[in-house]
Amino acid sequence: MRRDILKTLKKEHDALRGLFAEINDTTDRAEKGRAKLLEAIESNLMPHAKWEEIVFYPAFAERADREGLKTHAEAVLEHHAVEQVVIPEVHAADVQTPEFAGRVKVFGELIDHHAREEETTLFKMARKLFSAEELSSFDEQYEEWKRSNTAAMVVAGEKGKIGVKAAIKSIVG
Ligand SMILES: [Fe+2]
Ligand SMILES: [Fe+2]
Repeated sequence: MRRDILKTLKKEHDALRGLFAEINDTTDRAEKGRAKLLEAIESNLMPHAKWEEIVFYPAFAERADREGLKTHAEAVLEHHAVEQVVIPEVHAADVQTPEFAGRVKVFGELIDHHAREEETTLFKMARKLFSAEELSSFDEQYEEWKRSNTAAMVVAGEKGKIGVKAAIKSIVG
């Protein structure tokens, strides 16, 4: 069967949905379980989001019509909102609190909303804008990128920024 980036990204969305279901099911006492699940969510989400931002979204925008560009703008803003506001707020909360549970729930809801928009709109458009060969070669590039140093550096940089924002939020609230 031919490789297909859109199927890979959809599979990763589903894996994230599963992890959010698990973390939403934990109690405030599950300190280690929550920390581990949050770590798993981030290590699944970050390479996915960063590759979309750096490679896939720009390639999509280059071919998109006005509706496509609007969809692209929505997706980019949702990424920013999650990275700049939601994840730092999750990190600023103590994992053994209802605040953490509430913030992680919103985090999961936003990811589910964003993923569904991609699946029903952006990916549908992408399937028309790119040939099967192109979607297959994106899939190969993505797999290589995830294993590369660039990916590790981009993800580490993002985690650093989140750490700084979380520290500020836990001080100023
Ligand atoms: Fe996305
Ligand atoms: Fe995605």
